[in-house]
Amino acid sequence: MNDWPIRIAPSILAGDFSCLGDECRIAEDAGADWIHVDVMDGHFVPAITFGASTCSALRPHIKGVMDVHLMISPVDPHLDDFIASGADVLTVHVESGPHVHRTLQKIRNAGIRPGVALNPATPASALYHLIDLVDLVCVMTVNPGFGGQSFISSQIEKIGGIRKLTGRSRVHVQVDGGINASTARLAVEAGADVLVAGSAVFGNRMSNKSEDYARNIAEIRSTAK
Ligand code: DX5
Ligand code: ZN
Repeated sequence: MNDWPIRIAPSILAGDFSCLGDECRIAEDAGADWIHVDVMDGHFVPAITFGASTCSALRPHIKGVMDVHLMISPVDPHLDDFIASGADVLTVHVESGPHVHRTLQKIRNAGIRPGVALNPATPASALYHLIDLVDLVCVMTVNPGFGGQSFISSQIEKIGGIRKLTGRSRVHVQVDGGINASTARLAVEAGADVLVAGSAVFGNRMSNKSEDYARNIAEIRSTAK
């Protein structure tokens, strides 16, 4: 466990794409700490979502932290556009190319909080020469590319190892994929402090989004404590 406040970051990947701005506002009003924005290119991951122009369009609808997760390769040719989109956190995958160190330097120099994501098969040791460059490590607890997959429990050990590596430095350990009320607890016990949740927040909506999202966020928060 760590003593940081737990932050819940609903992933709009599971939201209603016909009204993403509304989804962000409703999720924040319902208690979301950050809004997680998944960018997929159909190359690094199988699916395509949207690009930097959509991030820019969402920016005015998010009062707090816009947490942009880039699942794209190559990332460098698009970096300026995502920097300009108004992201607060910009996360790139360590597997997305040979120059992730330079990419992270560029994000930091632009005044944005850099994050680095690790796929499930990538060991924590991939971070050793990057950890001083980042504000966030994202541990993928599913193989990236789709929402609604099952949490890969072998990643719990990795989360713990990364929390040890970060020590008491101000580096967030984020988990992304298959997070619900029960897996959230496992992740937090292992050392995670930012919980991305798509389906578990947006997925089971009924008639009233505000109430449904608030209930879902509260459930994750209460079991994660
Ligand atoms: C997966 C994305 C996740 C995804 C999580 O590639 O990075 O952010 O939205 O969705 P759930 O919570 O449904 O696993
Ligand atoms: Zn994500």
